[in-house]
Amino acid sequence: MYKVSITRVPLSAVVPLRTSELRPKRHPKDTITGGDLLSDSIHVAAISQDQLLGVASAVREPAPPPLGGAAAWRVRGVAVIGHLRGTGVGRQLVETACNLIADRETSVWLYAQEHVSGFYKKLGFAPVASCVPHHIAGLVGLYELKLSKRDPASNSADNRRA
Ligand SMILES: CC(C)(COP(=O)(O)OP(=O)(O)OC[C@H]1O[C@@H](n2cnc3c(N)ncnc32)[C@H](O)[C@@H]1OP(=O)(O)O)[C@@H](O)C(=O)NCCC(=O)NCCS
Repeated sequence: MYKVSITRVPLSAVVPLRTSELRPKRHPKDTITGGDLLSDSIHVAAISQDQLLGVASAVREPAPPPLGGAAAWRVRGVAVIGHLRGTGVGRQLVETACNLIADRETSVWLYAQEHVSGFYKKLGFAPVASCVPHHIAGLVGLYELKLSKRDPASNSADNRRA
């Protein structure tokens, strides 16, 4: 595993990499959703020698059917720069973002494309449904992770508000 420092950062720090790696044809501001802007939204970045290597976000957003209910946080905008993929950076980003969610009674959901479903399954996300809103082109699966009690040892991010 490539050990990096995962730091809580403001939204503005994650948007450029989120855009270039996930939505290169969109304007950066069009990758931002309402949840991103909430005061308790969580944005983390993998940084090494002042270089941004990856980003992830966890934002408060009710899950779509058939989930709904307790699934109140969404993981989105997970991206690692090309040459570091497969080295554990994505895992550290998602685990840190989820670990920063204060309410451990909630669960986390996300949409994932088929080619990364194995990644999210490795992190404990369970596939829930393949139905996806038609406006999210290319996304095919709804996944859920039930949060466990926070493990302080695995949380290397600075938990102060960025
Ligand atoms: C998807 C992505 C974030 C994963 O990050 P990463 O740093 O490459 O993943 P990691 O190295 O932390 O992988 C963690 C585990 O998942 C596995 N894994 C990673 N990518 C996988 C994939 N596409 N399919 C299946 N398993 C995968 C790894 O083998 C590893 O398994 P292990 O713990 O048994 O060793 C990264 O590949 C990426 O940025 N892809 C392009 C952007 C993208 O598609 N983002 C997701 C949008 S929904």
